Amino acid sequence: MSHLAATPPSLPAPADPLEAPPLRWGILGAGGIAGRFAREVPSRSRQQIVAVASRDQQRADAFAATHGIGRAYGSYESLVGDPYLDVIYVATPHSFHHRHALLALAAGKHVLVEKAFTRNVAEAREVFDTARERGLFAMEAMWTRFLPHMVALRAVVESGALGEILAVGADHGQRLDTVERLLAPDLAGGALLDLGVYPLSFAHSLLGAPATVHAAGSLTDVGVDSHEAVTLTYESSRAIAVSTSNMWARSATTASVVGTDARIDVAGPFFQPTTFVLSPIHGEPWQWPPTAEGQAVDPGGFEYQAAEVARAVSEGRQESATMPWQATLEVMATMDEVRRQLGVVYPGE
Ligand SMILES: NC(=O)c1ccc[n+]([C@@H]2O[C@H](COP(=O)([O-])OP(=O)(O)OC[C@H]3O[C@@H](n4cnc5c(N)ncnc54)[C@H](OP(=O)(O)O)[C@@H]3O)[C@@H](O)[C@H]2O)c1
Repeated sequence: MSHLAATPPSLPAPADPLEAPPLRWGILGAGGIAGRFAREVPSRSRQQIVAVASRDQQRADAFAATHGIGRAYGSYESLVGDPYLDVIYVATPHSFHHRHALLALAAGKHVLVEKAFTRNVAEAREVFDTARERGLFAMEAMWTRFLPHMVALRAVVESGALGEILAVGADHGQRLDTVERLLAPDLAGGALLDLGVYPLSFAHSLLGAPATVHAAGSLTDVGVDSHEAVTLTYESSRAIAVSTSNMWARSATTASVVGTDARIDVAGPFFQPTTFVLSPIHGEPWQWPPTAEGQAVDPGGFEYQAAEVARAVSEGRQESATMPWQATLEVMATMDEVRRQLGVVYPGE
């Protein structure tokens, strides 16, 4: 029997991804996350993955065969030059996002770029400036912001139901100690850009840019960060946000928003489709969505960000209101400051 007696209020939901107009997508980089994108997006939206590129033609062919993609290119240049494509999904390691996004924009293609958007804020600014000049769409693939629980959660926070927000906390730890990309300084590895970007973006989506950033953490023997705690304060509010991330151990991956009148606890992993519970100081707690306890929410989730890109492009918008350029720039600036305090510099920056 659930202790969540109260019924949640009616909360907004994201627009149906199946109703977004179709775009013709090319995937740049045939790696792990590209596979998830290729599996999930076409089956949950009307977006069409029509081409993929790898640095290796055989890898591109194998990826295309696995995912039923018609066009396979053995170079990224050939992919972005395909006049049939509308938009390129950049799915390479962090150190290449800047170069590959600029490659696609120079070829006249809109871009969805995996998180973390680039290695640093200067690279991010150059990508957005180029998109602006060329009249093209660009967005960081921070898919969490588009998920149903985040749309509902932001509406609750904006309604004032929590009272004054005093604390935001979010955590992302995974055991990724054998994943080469995370261990490699030249691929801009480490916990922060891969995992810490989620809790920092969560805090940013509720509180905006911080006034102060204080980081504590540890580095590996080759100088990428393995784990960190970041404390943020704000000019326009008394709130404090705490972001923790690590790549050695699987943590609770939960998030919370604490207000004077109520608290929200987001079930881990907070960055995937999930549930949250609102506990008021006075009254009964309620869960969103009001599924039975233990019942999994609908998995997937990449379709929402892809639908956002499709809607924006079809309406002639160059950026998303949910994941605007300024938000990416401010989160990147925060991560630059965290790295400065921890002493992390990527080769070639
Ligand atoms: N949204 C999410 O849930 C999520 C989850 C995991 C990762 N990501 C993000 O997705 C991006 C890619 O991560 P991933 O885990 O998919 O990485 P991955 O499996 O290592 O794949 C990256 C791909 O990038 C290409 N690449 C180009 N130059 C490379 C180089 N010098 N070294 C290695 N690979 C190179 C490779 O493709 P080709 O060999 O085919 O050219 C490789 O397969 C990162 O930004 C990461 O943070 C997002």
